[in-house]
Amino acid sequence: MPLFDSYLDANHEKFEEELCQLLRIESISADSKYRQQVHQAGEWVADQFRQLGLTTEIHPTDGHPIVYAESLEAGDAPTVLVYGHYDVQPPDPLDEWVSPPFEPTVRDGNLYARGATDDKGQMLTHVKSAEAWIRSEGRLPINLKFLIEGEEEVGSENLSHFIEENCQRLACDIVVISDTAQFAPGRPAITYGLKGIAYYELRLTGPKQDLHSGTFGGAVSNPANAIAHILAALIDRDGRIQVPGFYDDVVPLTDEERRQFADLGFDEEQFKRQLGVGDVAGETGYTTLERRWARPTCDVNGIWSGYQGEGAKTVLPARAGAKFSFRLVPDQDPKKIEAALKTMFDELCPPGIRKDLISFHSAPGIVVPLDSPYMTAAAKAIEHGFGTPPVFIREGGSIPVVSTFRDLLGVDTLLLGWGQNDDNTHSPNEKFSLADFHRGIKASAHLWEELSWIEGKESRRSAEGRGQ
Ligand code: BES
Ligand code: MN
Ligand code: MN
Repeated sequence: MPLFDSYLDANHEKFEEELCQLLRIESISADSKYRQQVHQAGEWVADQFRQLGLTTEIHPTDGHPIVYAESLEAGDAPTVLVYGHYDVQPPDPLDEWVSPPFEPTVRDGNLYARGATDDKGQMLTHVKSAEAWIRSEGRLPINLKFLIEGEEEVGSENLSHFIEENCQRLACDIVVISDTAQFAPGRPAITYGLKGIAYYELRLTGPKQDLHSGTFGGAVSNPANAIAHILAALIDRDGRIQVPGFYDDVVPLTDEERRQFADLGFDEEQFKRQLGVGDVAGETGYTTLERRWARPTCDVNGIWSGYQGEGAKTVLPARAGAKFSFRLVPDQDPKKIEAALKTMFDELCPPGIRKDLISFHSAPGIVVPLDSPYMTAAAKAIEHGFGTPPVFIREGGSIPVVSTFRDLLGVDTLLLGWGQNDDNTHSPNEKFSLADFHRGIKASAHLWEELSWIEGKESRRSAEGRGQ
């Protein structure tokens, strides 16, 4: 048994206590009231790196700070960049939490808290595996860089600037991210595809104030009617998105990939029970896994207008608004889709209504190659940590920075998710299995070893650069 394995076994409780410390910090990036707490979480993470003797920096941004740390003492071995985020989603609705979101509580082997799985618990597995190597073996077998941000849940805008300005410093052979889920309990997975995203808010303004719907209804455009009409036009009854040209660049599923998805034995009945729905629905001609992992989608995320109080009020509201987003797949281009969307909305908007379309973050979808030595190393490491080899899956969620790493650093990412699909990410009662937390740490510790056998192109490049 490697030395680090006994260090891991001896430190289960310490690791759990440390995770709880981080989970108690209310680092809600979307809400400016929590600015100080977000900062404090960044400090906590940086302090972990300092204790391990890594060169550590807290980089302030216009938003929340970026924590960067590195240990570059492994010579020719590969250079690995670990990315994670210490910010979390708002915990609302608060009254649906069984235990308070920022008071981590164990029930049935799961740790319940906002951020437990997304992403504090998963991110910490790589910090603790580095600790195990340093404290037991006295060194890391690879060159390791950590980039841990505080703005993932709000679109990672400042992070792209940081990466642009620090390409040299962040140079690496491979990126590792644990911020996704396993396929199912006992079925660890490597995720080789993520969806992209394009997020919008549409605001419609009609008359200068709310009107009597009898006196004025039918004579002027109603913004609530208009928004329903516009949003409804986005998708047809077959679940096909109606933005002109939307599917032009979609890479179709191959027969082989469809077969691989089917072979995973997805339990649709269990899925329906888990979500409390009577039936699944989506784009005609595709299975649930295909819809979730490899087909673009469109969802209204919020919608508001008119009277919401008790009883009936005959009103023609002056304003209406909605937030909606597309999930994109390779090779859709968010910019092209936005241009087509604007033209479509210009045509759909009725007379007498002012329309403002605000675009928030966007990122393209990605797939990473399966036939790389890094993938093989990751699969072996997961087998060590979880006792069974991983399956290969895609995900419907987005991690915008993955395409940034590819475009700016020219490197692929290993998406090694330790979570479960029923972890309630972004929802009340978020949880992370403590067994998976420890298995993740163990897999990560083995990953550093497996990767160390691969020739490090990046360390060689920088060594050559120094020699010149
Ligand atoms: N960890 C998630 C991404 C994720 C979700 C991966 C589900 C796999 C399955 C990440 O923290 C997240 O929530 N991403 C956002 C991105 C957005 C804010 C740009 C998402 O997917 O909504
Ligand atoms: Mn996340
Ligand atoms: Mn998230």
